[in-house]
Amino acid sequence: MSNSPHINDVVQFHRVALRYDRGPEVFSDVNLRLGRGSFTFLTGRSGAGKSSLLKLCYLTLKPSRGLINLFDHDISLMNRQEQQSTKHRIGVVLQDFRLIDHLSVFENVALPLRVAGQMRAAYSQDVTELLQWVGLGHRMEAMPQTLSGGEQQRAAIARAVIAKPDLLIADEPTGNVDPIIGRRLLRLFSEMNRMGTTVLIATHDTSLMRDIQADILRIEDGTLHRVQGEVFDG
Ligand SMILES: Nc1ncnc2c1ncn2[C@@H]1O[C@H](COP(=O)(O)OP(=O)(O)O)[C@@H](O)[C@H]1O
Ligand SMILES: [Mg+2]
Repeated sequence: MSNSPHINDVVQFHRVALRYDRGPEVFSDVNLRLGRGSFTFLTGRSGAGKSSLLKLCYLTLKPSRGLINLFDHDISLMNRQEQQSTKHRIGVVLQDFRLIDHLSVFENVALPLRVAGQMRAAYSQDVTELLQWVGLGHRMEAMPQTLSGGEQQRAAIARAVIAKPDLLIADEPTGNVDPIIGRRLLRLFSEMNRMGTTVLIATHDTSLMRDIQADILRIEDGTLHRVQGEVFDG
């Protein structure tokens, strides 16, 4: 890929199609480029394929056809180790949070740093400050099952951003939180983006999109459309 004219793209899809088993094609022909440092919202009605598209970006699904490059590497040519190190560059916030039940909120959020080999003394303050910022300063030692949906969501977001990933992917990240917390989370994403993280957020919360300068892509009828001007609901 060294001759690619788009060497700064974090994500590239070329003519990507996806189907589950023998179902219909969710997408038939998706082209996508996320430049390094870009901030993109992905919208579209429920069932249009937003979550599926994100899964392709964080290596949980494989396309049925077409080419996907992550950080300028063709994912179909990556071995397991390359896939693993690519995944470590991506922070993911899923709709079902996936917090680890037997670890406290603090330990959940610290996990990506521990995996990266950092010692507690080095990350303790960062984890504490981030948890305070997302409004969980008083719940750091709590176990995930004792948290409300909105609190779990904020813990999952803190875990996704703590290691300053190159790419941050979030699936409906403000779905369970009140509008004030939603704005605060968006500011966190925006702050990460200013520090260089490429951000991709699936949402149908149009109020979020008004608050921030971002590219808006809409998935419809199996392809992606760039939304210009006003965002309409749906
Ligand atoms: N694991 C799966 N197996 C089969 N079909 C799926 C699976 N996940 C999603 N789909 C189908 O793919 C389509 C897109 O779903 P999804 O990506 O979840 O859309 P969105 O996130 O926009 O609501 C839907 O028709 C959905 O039923
Ligand atoms: Mg979805």
